[in-house]
Amino acid sequence: MKKGRGLAIRGRFVDVRAVAESPAEIAEKSRYLDDGLLLVENGLIQWFGRWQDGKNRVPAHYALHDHHQQQKIIMPGFVDTHVHFPQVEIIGSHGKQLLDWLNKYAFPAEIRYGDGAYAEKMAGFFLDQLLENGTTTALVFCTVHRASVEAIFGAATARYMRLIGGKVLMDRNAPAALLDTAQTGYDQSRELIKQYHNTGRLHYAVTPRFALTSTEEQLELAGQLKKEFPDVYVQTHLSENRAEIEQVHQQFPGCRNYLDVYHQSGLTGRRSIFAHCIHLREDEWQGLKTSGSAIAFCPTSNLFLGSGLFDLERARSEGIEVGMATDVGGGTSLNMLQTLAEAYKVAQLQGQQFSPWEALYRATLGGARALSLDGQIGSFTPGKEADFVVLDPEATPLLAMRNARAESIEEQLFALIILGDDRSISHTYVDGRLVYERDK
Ligand code: GUN
Ligand code: ZN
Repeated sequence: MKKGRGLAIRGRFVDVRAVAESPAEIAEKSRYLDDGLLLVENGLIQWFGRWQDGKNRVPAHYALHDHHQQQKIIMPGFVDTHVHFPQVEIIGSHGKQLLDWLNKYAFPAEIRYGDGAYAEKMAGFFLDQLLENGTTTALVFCTVHRASVEAIFGAATARYMRLIGGKVLMDRNAPAALLDTAQTGYDQSRELIKQYHNTGRLHYAVTPRFALTSTEEQLELAGQLKKEFPDVYVQTHLSENRAEIEQVHQQFPGCRNYLDVYHQSGLTGRRSIFAHCIHLREDEWQGLKTSGSAIAFCPTSNLFLGSGLFDLERARSEGIEVGMATDVGGGTSLNMLQTLAEAYKVAQLQGQQFSPWEALYRATLGGARALSLDGQIGSFTPGKEADFVVLDPEATPLLAMRNARAESIEEQLFALIILGDDRSISHTYVDGRLVYERDK
């Protein structure tokens, strides 16, 4: 029999074994192996357990990567449930709140992505940035241009990444160079679905930007795509900013609330992911819950754009799936540790809990679950795909000092979340392959 591409990883491992609802359940299902072994063949996890129990199982032809001596911490790759790849170049742009920021920075930048060569260059740059930050899967907004979708899917395939992306649908209230029509948006999305959806590790997301930039006709046709291809994703924005919400109510007087704009067009449900959800009304919480829709929690963006504080406790109590998201370029970092640190502060400001276990869950298996990908990624369960990240708890002198004072793995993880950044990511593996190494 032909020998597979085999890899054995030794180190300290942390994951959450199974999807969980409450903070208590997340803590109970969390797993820490002080000296563990992960066996990977052809990109799939074959075996996971204690080094002592597995060291004699390692096939002779497997490569051994030993991260144990350096006290590194290995966890499933991070999942970013909402990010705009063409906005990476305008991250950190000073300005007012959402609507001004869109007009002043986001839209002008996105116009450049009609140029295929430029889109390809930037897609590669963006995905390399994700890998340098330990993010191995993302749900990605492209631009209105089909070239931008081709670029991100090409770049993801070249990096073996599981990735969801989609062409932005926008037929009003944006510069002419960024507008499609209800019909061309439908036609192009349909062609892209046929070409890319469920090929390799790629999936397609129908992507109406938000209510304000689509006519009812466009939203209807977006819903039509979801009907024709029920397992495609839907990604959009919901209830981010008060001025935005006010305009939505004016533009859609026939809708009961903001969520209803999407709901009436058949755009809610499992595999529909709504970014932000800051100022939800009671009936919108219920609508998200009963439709089985998921939320992308974007703390750095919500603070940077002054949008507001996401009510994580409420989402938890409703049993709504919540994944972490950077929302770059409204967000200020592609790094999930920094994103979790800001999420912790958002929770603090509301007197809510956000334990390190929950933080890691939301950034890995919880995000995978929000994307209905928890059968493939998000934990070290055998049969899953081997996407993981090696973290260095001693990446800087300050981190090393703080780490030395930590009395438990929980304390170490918390310090890593609060103080860590891209320097804390020492290796990233995708599909059982080493795709990023910090010190190289
Ligand atoms: N709402 C509509 N478009 C955008 C965008 O590009 N970023 C953010 N944060 N919110 C949006
Ligand atoms: Zn966004």
